Amino acid sequence: MNEETDADWIPAGADLSRPSAARIYDYLLGGAHNLAPDREVARRLEAIQPQVAGVARRNRAFLRRVVRFLLEQGVRQFLDLGSGIPTVGNVHEVAQEVDPEAKVVYVDYEPVAVAHSVMLLKGNPHAAAVEADATDTGAVLKSAPVTELLDLSRPIGLLAITLGHYLPEVRGVFAAYRDALAPGSYLALTHLTNDFAVLSDPRVAETMRSTQDNIYPRTKDEVLALFDGFELVEPGLTTSANWRPDRLAAVVDPEADGLYAGVGRKPHAALQT
Ligand SMILES: C[S@@+](CC[C@H](N)C(=O)[O-])C[C@H]1O[C@@H](n2cnc3c(N)ncnc32)[C@H](O)[C@@H]1O
Repeated sequence: MNEETDADWIPAGADLSRPSAARIYDYLLGGAHNLAPDREVARRLEAIQPQVAGVARRNRAFLRRVVRFLLEQGVRQFLDLGSGIPTVGNVHEVAQEVDPEAKVVYVDYEPVAVAHSVMLLKGNPHAAAVEADATDTGAVLKSAPVTELLDLSRPIGLLAITLGHYLPEVRGVFAAYRDALAPGSYLALTHLTNDFAVLSDPRVAETMRSTQDNIYPRTKDEVLALFDGFELVEPGLTTSANWRPDRLAAVVDPEADGLYAGVGRKPHAALQT
């Protein structure tokens, strides 16, 4: 018996042979839902770039700020794509602290992440998790958690926080979600790039090639294109720590911060005259 792979948080049938982004990220954030091969990749990434855990923590802090911002804008439903393994400050925790009836659907294709989310959400009638490939927009939008919990005729907060760079073709996917969302909905994302020093070493992408989750860093213009059909809210496209920081002291040099971050709002159609 292998104590680690037989742990009760690992669902039957999960492919543990290759490291996964969900479990590597969990390790970088100090979580306990990762295995030796995931830790090995995380350590290789840290050897290339000691700041990699800092990038992950700032990304997670961005996620929490964005959810609070969207709640302030009146959003009460969230679709969290590539939600990962639950960790401190999950979307439903932040949202339901403000509105206990806020609805949240988590989507991930990594079985450990989904099994753990399902466990955590037991007894919560307003949040659910679905195992699906986020690029299969039809399957996600028609899944029972989405149709039962979310009302797509009303504004949604669509979260794609460190999701886009795992997708080889990304514009069409984001456009399909945009078309399904009501005006007044928001898209919030972070995205890996080689534009800034911290993660631009090609060994980062090379290292991720040994995992289930290849990465595709994109340039500023390529990331901006993901907001097609959305209007970026202030301060526009910036980096995760610098998007509406809680304290000015939290501002970080983009070269060190590393991930593009932004939020866009789907406008109402212009009135025809
Ligand atoms: C680094 S984690 C981010 C977790 C969370 N969004 C956050 O920012 O804190 C990226 C997640 O995206 C998931 N992912 C990558 N590609 C995906 C896809 N095509 N469909 C669904 N999930 C995907 C991975 O399994 C992983 O859990």
